[in-house]
Amino acid sequence: MPSVEGLGARRAALQMLDGVLRRGQTLDSAAARVRGLAPADHALAIAIAGEALRRLPDLDALIDGATRQRLPDDSKARMVLRIALAQKIGLGTPDHALVATALPLVDGGPRRLVHGVLGTLLRRGVTVSDAPHLPADVEQRWRAAWGEEVVEAARRQIASRPPLDLTFADDSEAQAYASEHGGVSLAPKHVRLESTSVAGLPGYAEGKWWVQDLAASLPARAIAGSARDVLDLCAAPGGKTMQLAAAGHRVTAVDASESRLRRLRENLGRTQLDAELVQADALQWKPERMFDAILLDAPCSATGTFRRHPEVLYRARPDIIAANSELQTQLVGRAAEWLRPGGTLVYSVCSLEPQEGEEVIAAFLAAHDDFLPPFAATGEALAGGFPHFARPAERGWVRILPGLLEAEGGLDGFFIARLVRRG
Ligand SMILES: C[S@@+](CC[C@H](N)C(=O)[O-])C[C@H]1O[C@@H](n2cnc3c(N)ncnc32)[C@H](O)[C@@H]1O
Repeated sequence: MPSVEGLGARRAALQMLDGVLRRGQTLDSAAARVRGLAPADHALAIAIAGEALRRLPDLDALIDGATRQRLPDDSKARMVLRIALAQKIGLGTPDHALVATALPLVDGGPRRLVHGVLGTLLRRGVTVSDAPHLPADVEQRWRAAWGEEVVEAARRQIASRPPLDLTFADDSEAQAYASEHGGVSLAPKHVRLESTSVAGLPGYAEGKWWVQDLAASLPARAIAGSARDVLDLCAAPGGKTMQLAAAGHRVTAVDASESRLRRLRENLGRTQLDAELVQADALQWKPERMFDAILLDAPCSATGTFRRHPEVLYRARPDIIAANSELQTQLVGRAAEWLRPGGTLVYSVCSLEPQEGEEVIAAFLAAHDDFLPPFAATGEALAGGFPHFARPAERGWVRILPGLLEAEGGLDGFFIARLVRRG
């Protein structure tokens, strides 16, 4: 059979989409399983699968509007049509190329059906929404937790490319970099760029900065002072470890994952920052001393990162969120035992689920009367510049929701609580 140009990338995109939706993989891990493609084709396949995930409910509505019988969610025909429509909407691929690369993917299968549906949709014209729907269960959950406005902001955000945030070890370097490279600094040591490509950006090899969403930089900013003995629990790949080390703390970084700790070691090497690394399960490990401050950036559903990782919306099922919440409760309970009286415990998750944020900390405070409520508890100045837009809410913790700083490019969803142990 003569080969169709670009077919390899589409086949790979199909495999990635299947890996995410049917096997529960992240897009990164599904992409890593695809071998033997030229780098440009591999990147194209990731872009197609990512676009399909960003707009899946809208793509499915189009498909359902052009079929008499609803195609099963995991049918190959639906997967191939999603891939084709994602290219039409997100990549502007010409119609003939869409059809030519879609049909061989269903060889020996529902070729006529796919051809018919695609032909109908292309003739009708496919319109692009700048606020595509999120999966219905996610919209329902977030509407109940945060209201309709937040759901609408999240829809707008999933359609647009987030900016690139850099954290610098040194604030004067950050400010100079922002003015030199057309960036905006929204907090000390921060630069926001329009560019989404890290490769080739000046200063990377010299280790002057690392990539970190501005919201993800807030937890480490909540640890005041410097030169203190800080435990960074669940630390890899180390964005927050580097912030803490750059602020002058003595940092012990613990993580269960060997491969993620390897990345942390590389990151520290590149930035020439220092921390003691420990590979351990935090549920088993016991430190030999108490700490002045502890940062627990707990494992979570990561639904706050949906702009860059739209697949989190499909992976974060209610049973997974509930299991995370249980693990987070155990982790924060253990971490609290290792904190000196008067010390600060910062708990954070890049999740938009109250079960992983507000509910974990409310239950913790109810069970630990030796801990003062978050943030509001002390007048202690926050180090590293805690920006004005992230001031604590009424209950004392910081909740970052879609819609915040939207005109400036938005932020990942986050929850940050700062607890102080009574002296
Ligand atoms: C949200 S990520 C941490 C991100 C990191 N703080 C940063 O800023 O780059 C959560 C981390 O928790 C680690 N982890 C999960 N369960 C753990 C456990 N029981 N003990 C220690 N680390 C764990 C994972 O390997 C993962 O690296």
